[in-house]
Amino acid sequence: RDSPETRDILTSRMIIEGDTEFLDLVPLIGMEPICSLKKLGGSIVKGDVNFAPHIRAPAYLPSQRIVNTIYGIPNEGPAYGAIMFGDDIIQDPKTGETIAYRMRPELLFEHELIIGTTGKGKTAKCKNDIYNFINTFGGSVVVIDTHNEYSMIAEDPIKDDDPIKPSQSDIKIWKDLKLSPQKIDDVLVWIPKQESSSEGGAKEYTLAENANLKFFTIRFAGIPESMLQYYLPALSPQGYYVLPKLAKRFRLMYPSEKQTLERFYRWLENSAFPKEEVSDATREAILRRLAAILGEEIFDLEGTPDINVRELLKPERVNIVRVDTLKSIVARRIITMHIISKIAQVKLSDYDNETPPTMLLIDEAHNYFPRFVYDYNEREWVLRTVSWVERIAREGRKFRLRIEFSTQSPEDLCPSILKTVNTYTIFGLTPLQVKTLKKFMELPTDLTTLLVNLPARQAVVFARSNASIPIRIFVPWALLRHKMTKKE
Ligand SMILES: Nc1ncnc2c1ncn2[C@@H]1O[C@H](COP(=O)(O)OP(=O)(O)OP(=O)(O)O)[C@@H](O)[C@H]1O
Ligand SMILES: [Mg+2]
Repeated sequence: RDSPETRDILTSRMIIEGDTEFLDLVPLIGMEPICSLKKLGGSIVKGDVNFAPHIRAPAYLPSQRIVNTIYGIPNEGPAYGAIMFGDDIIQDPKTGETIAYRMRPELLFEHELIIGTTGKGKTAKCKNDIYNFINTFGGSVVVIDTHNEYSMIAEDPIKDDDPIKPSQSDIKIWKDLKLSPQKIDDVLVWIPKQESSSEGGAKEYTLAENANLKFFTIRFAGIPESMLQYYLPALSPQGYYVLPKLAKRFRLMYPSEKQTLERFYRWLENSAFPKEEVSDATREAILRRLAAILGEEIFDLEGTPDINVRELLKPERVNIVRVDTLKSIVARRIITMHIISKIAQVKLSDYDNETPPTMLLIDEAHNYFPRFVYDYNEREWVLRTVSWVERIAREGRKFRLRIEFSTQSPEDLCPSILKTVNTYTIFGLTPLQVKTLKKFMELPTDLTTLLVNLPARQAVVFARSNASIPIRIFVPWALLRHKMTKKE
């Protein structure tokens, strides 16, 4: 406010008096940085600033309240990290506390994409997000676990004999942000059972003491006809067209306990169909695909039930779907689509809020929603699954379904996934990744260099409805157990 009566008053004075209206009026953001001065061991040193000071400001360290006002960040909500200015984690000058970057809770349901090169801290951040989701909503979480890195969250986050432990400053960040590391009490690990998987059974797979384990198989009989297209990759367009009709016919002839994928295959092989309904070529092609999928051994294993989705959607339960046990990428994709389909069927018709808020976490998402697929028919399938997931993401908002994608190769991720999310958390990238990303989203140019040079555990959060500009944060030490590796 530049009026005669305030002209001689220092900004810091105005802030002490609570007269902060000028912060809304003066364009502090988006201006060239000038410099900052700070006292260091008796002398004054020059440093960076990321905002232009008010005309009468000598130098001023903003409090959490002011930072939130300037950037429009909410005062409440899950803490993503400590806000940084330049290379520093800033502190509230009044309290000495680290300043939190908080997210509006409702925005979580507008989805998030986490990207960054390998080792920068994506999985640690995903675990913090699980922590936040459970503590904010008492929600249920379903994780597609590609590398068996999640079951350990059932254990104590910090153990005496851990080689690497959080430092004093890590502990201070937790405290200032009002976070406390914990173990997850209700962890259910789901493993797709395969005939060839060894006899050791549950014992062999149990990793965390406190986690429970269940085997499952996909029951062909339980797949709605309209959903079959997401389970059977690389059919021709005609194949996708006739498949539901064929399945319907088959199902009319057999009782549900006999409706296995294998029987469907044999039935299709041995029945005669009028040419105008199914051409021989189409039938042959379907049979070939079915044979390949039967070979994956993920359907109708005897004595093993399918996933009961009501069991997934329990408050404060974290379900971990171990796809690392499957060798083929196609099998992993089918299992992932199965999980998504199960969740979508219940969540998108849950008008009475019978299920808790739900978070679906897809780590290594480029495996499931790839950008480049060289087989023409497989490409068709990927596009189908992507547009289906886009629709689920859009409709999921009002049913409190959150989807979080994470990937170390954004250049391999189907670009339309980028458009389904509101929040982008970007860790360090390679120049090539920045270049690819720029094709699909608006990245302010001055961020390019920053993103290429970001050290591990630091990220830039873009969330238009949460803060007026992208904000650099320092991610707290993992709140749930995570494998910590020594730095070389
Ligand atoms: N928030 C964090 N707190 C403590 N350590 C961290 C954090 N983030 C990353 N690290 C350290 O960096 C290592 C790699 O982190 P993380 O496993 O999260 O990387 P990533 O980005 O998921 O990598 P990848 O692409 O290989 O999966 C961890 O093992 C840990 O030592
Ligand atoms: Mg990872």
